[in-house]
Amino acid sequence: MCSPVPIGVAIAGASGRLGRALIQVLQQSTTARLQGALVSPNSPWAGQDAGKLVGVEPLGVILTTNVSEALFKAAVLIDFTTPSATLHHLERCRQQGKAMVIGTTGLEDNAQRLIAQTAQQIAVLQSANFSLGVQLLYQLAASAARVLGTESDIDIIDQHHRHKRDAPSGTALALGERLANTLGLEWPGCLDTVPPGRSTGRAAGKIQFASVRSGETVGEHRVSFTLADEQLSITHQAMSRLAFAKGAVRAAQWLVHQPAAHYTLQDLLEQSVSQGSS
Ligand SMILES: NC(=O)c1ccc[n+]([C@@H]2O[C@H](COP(=O)([O-])OP(=O)(O)OC[C@H]3O[C@@H](n4cnc5c(N)ncnc54)[C@H](OP(=O)(O)O)[C@@H]3O)[C@@H](O)[C@H]2O)c1
Repeated sequence: MCSPVPIGVAIAGASGRLGRALIQVLQQSTTARLQGALVSPNSPWAGQDAGKLVGVEPLGVILTTNVSEALFKAAVLIDFTTPSATLHHLERCRQQGKAMVIGTTGLEDNAQRLIAQTAQQIAVLQSANFSLGVQLLYQLAASAARVLGTESDIDIIDQHHRHKRDAPSGTALALGERLANTLGLEWPGCLDTVPPGRSTGRAAGKIQFASVRSGETVGEHRVSFTLADEQLSITHQAMSRLAFAKGAVRAAQWLVHQPAAHYTLQDLLEQSVSQGSS
């Protein structure tokens, strides 16, 4: 029996933390293959083989600053860069008819609108967190919110490495939005970050956020429901960036078979569950 042809994947942000994890995952995959690797316009890595970034033998993929060149052989782009670079790559994917997986966080509302608009022409899957455990955290937290509801004080704390540029994290915000929807709270109106020196007590009907940035912590999210006499906390800890990279590659493999639309990781998981149960 013939094995299926691996899908061609390009990476944007290849020399970054997630980019390197993606190269490692793709190097070991038999169903997806690295076919393009984009680095930033002034990157010292341009022109070198992608294998050098992860200390392996040459992979036959040259790191490039040219988006068209990176996309040429690929069916899908996986992008973990910066908000402005992501929007630039989105437009190039639209022009070249490639699907796009977006992992970059910190995108403003107008960027989100542009992504939704572009997804009418190409398949786009976007997630603030590609780990499977975090998808489960969303579901468990929503279940807890349904029971403990507005009677409890809800806090979301994210801890990440010292280089992270956005706070609260995209995952913390996505979790907060889900809980707000579950409880019928207005989002983002119910988002509360405690400013230094605030002298009043806790505001009613708010979800409180806090962010810690230290060392090389990959990513930890904790949601707590505190009542008068007890507290329930649910924590997810990513121990390696491979957790995100594996989820993003899985998303890319699914996305290339989907029509143009704006997808979330939840769409992929729901389809997998319904296919598994049918
Ligand atoms: N969704 C998830 O599961 C998830 C998980 C972790 C992180 N993230 C998000 O993913 C993003 C990247 O995270 P990271 O930790 O990998 O950051 P990082 O290590 O700073 O990597 C970002 C990479 O993007 C490159 N880049 C910047 N502008 C570019 C351009 N115009 N074209 C091509 N490459 C460009 C940078 O290159 P230079 O270094 O040369 O500038 C760098 O290599 C962040 O928004 C982060 O919050 C998402």
